[in-house]
Amino acid sequence: MRSRDISTWSIWGYLPVAFVFAVVWMHSIAFAQSQAGAPLKLDTGEEIYKAACIGCHGPGGKGQPKSTLGFEPPSTFPDFSDCRGTTGEKEFDWRATIHEGGAGRGFSRIMPSFSEALTNEQIYKVVGYLRSLCTEPGWPLAELNFPRAFGTEKAFPENETVLTSTFNATGNPGVEPEITYEKRFGVKNQMEISLPFSFQRADTRTWFAGVGDAVLGFKRVMAYSSKTGSILSLQGEVNFPTGDPAHGLGAGVTAFQTFGMFDQALPAKLKVLDAVQTQWGAVLPTHTKDLPQNFYFNTAIGKTLVQNKGFGRIWTPMVEFLASRDLVDGAKTNWDILPQMQVSLSKRQHILADVGVRFPMTNTGGRTTEVLFYVLWDWFDGSWKSGWK
Ligand code: HEC
Repeated sequence: MRSRDISTWSIWGYLPVAFVFAVVWMHSIAFAQSQAGAPLKLDTGEEIYKAACIGCHGPGGKGQPKSTLGFEPPSTFPDFSDCRGTTGEKEFDWRATIHEGGAGRGFSRIMPSFSEALTNEQIYKVVGYLRSLCTEPGWPLAELNFPRAFGTEKAFPENETVLTSTFNATGNPGVEPEITYEKRFGVKNQMEISLPFSFQRADTRTWFAGVGDAVLGFKRVMAYSSKTGSILSLQGEVNFPTGDPAHGLGAGVTAFQTFGMFDQALPAKLKVLDAVQTQWGAVLPTHTKDLPQNFYFNTAIGKTLVQNKGFGRIWTPMVEFLASRDLVDGAKTNWDILPQMQVSLSKRQHILADVGVRFPMTNTGGRTTEVLFYVLWDWFDGSWKSGWK
């Protein structure tokens, strides 16, 4: 009996030990499998960058040297530590390039598409990391760069060249093309030069052609908040009397212009509108006999729509309300309304066009309806010939 007891114990007594052993063994198999089969643990933007991007874009986003890259980097190859580019591009545009690859936005095909390798959430995170590579404070983010309207100057400082043409839709035929060049400098500044031309048909069927008054301007961002989606800037301009006022070209006197711009992003729940842009200022001529002082208030509202699941062509319908009043006795306020549609032309979205009609709503006597058209080239994103396919 006693010996049998012992032998029974010896069999059942080992069972718990075997059980513990089996559990540990099974765990170790499961662990080994999880190590081999699961995707890499890429939780933070930095981890994603180090795993997927550093091979080309280099440590700190500065780009690998040519010898390591093994390809000739395109002239637009980014340095993500350079705040001008890192804050100047919308996160949205970067997500599109990362999702669709260079081909999706008219960039080099060497930039691969990560639509399969990374989830949307991981793309958000890696873009957040790219943004963090600009360490200099004070740069307003491109999310505050709202679409350019015709009459309402935007608050965000830009690098662009714009060719605007204004056609008389009523009255004598005429067209006024104007070329504007804008360049950012420093963190918050922009200079601007613009030169209007004019081709007008007089009653006698003769055409006049000439230059109007050249404008030199300086803009500075005074305050902004990415959190509230607001930006406030001030601009000063000098209008030089380069035109010939006898033929209706320019005012004939030097004038100063000073204005403020306040743009506000609207809450996404509003759906029908994304932003309101306002501009208010005064034209102060050196001689008010030839050109009266004038005050104005411009507002633009609009909504950007994007084709192809948010990665394609952009369309921005906008409406402007333009009010202006000369500071002379008995003057009334001129109100104009200007519906328009802006659309991206190039795949890179650095060439945009806008077309609109400006209707005088009050004091319509002697004021013509105008058709406006512009082509805009954001030259920071590359030459105008690149980025189309
Ligand atoms: C095989 C090399 C390579 C890899 C890997 C790569 N890139 Fe790129 N990337 C490029 C090249 C080349 C360009 C420049 C394209 C051009 O300018 O035509 C570029 C451009 C970009 C741009 C556009 C910048 C701009 O100017 O608008 C972004 C954003 C970007 N890459 C992000 C990433 C991210 C994020 C990863 C990793 C998830 C990544 N890239 C991985 C080669 C690469």
